[in-house]
Amino acid sequence: MGDDDVLVDLGGGVGKSVVGGVMIFNASQGFSVELSESRFARACRALERLEGAAASRACGRACRERAGRPGLIEMAHGDLMDFDLSAATVVLAFSTCYPLDFQARLQRKLLRELRLGARVYAPQHKGWDEGLVLGGRSLAPIPYDFGHAFRVEAVGTAPGEL
Ligand SMILES: C[S@@+](CC[C@H](N)C(=O)[O-])C[C@H]1O[C@@H](n2cnc3c(N)ncnc32)[C@H](O)[C@@H]1O
Repeated sequence: MGDDDVLVDLGGGVGKSVVGGVMIFNASQGFSVELSESRFARACRALERLEGAAASRACGRACRERAGRPGLIEMAHGDLMDFDLSAATVVLAFSTCYPLDFQARLQRKLLRELRLGARVYAPQHKGWDEGLVLGGRSLAPIPYDFGHAFRVEAVGTAPGEL
């Protein structure tokens, strides 16, 4: 990831991955959407602590620059199915334990809303239809990964052509 990346964690839990994605892996923005009220509340508290940490001596110049940008990290409370993915370039979907039909709906949402070239990390995607093409787009496996990472590609596009 890098400066051009907008990271969205679908089922963001207590916000660890978006905080790490922005603060360590340099995504320009990170969004977590979490259904559980208690996890969402913990994520918000973590964000407040991060703001406090940014003001401390432990945070050097680069850290302060990243942490100081308003809106850089946002924690949202709600159903991931209602979250607009059109701005995302990297999506995390640790959809462990989701029912198969929910995973299938999620795959369709990813294909409908994500831009071409967006990457998706989905360790659990048993409910996906591997051959699904929607609007001329598919979720193509990224070969160097262990079978969990995908890229939104136009069908018929050779890898790397995007
Ligand atoms: C395996 S945890 C993911 C943890 C997090 N992504 C991380 O990296 O630390 C899955 C999370 O998805 C949340 N979840 C389940 N269904 C959801 C839904 N429909 N919308 C949003 N979050 C959901 C759960 O509450 C849980 O916190």
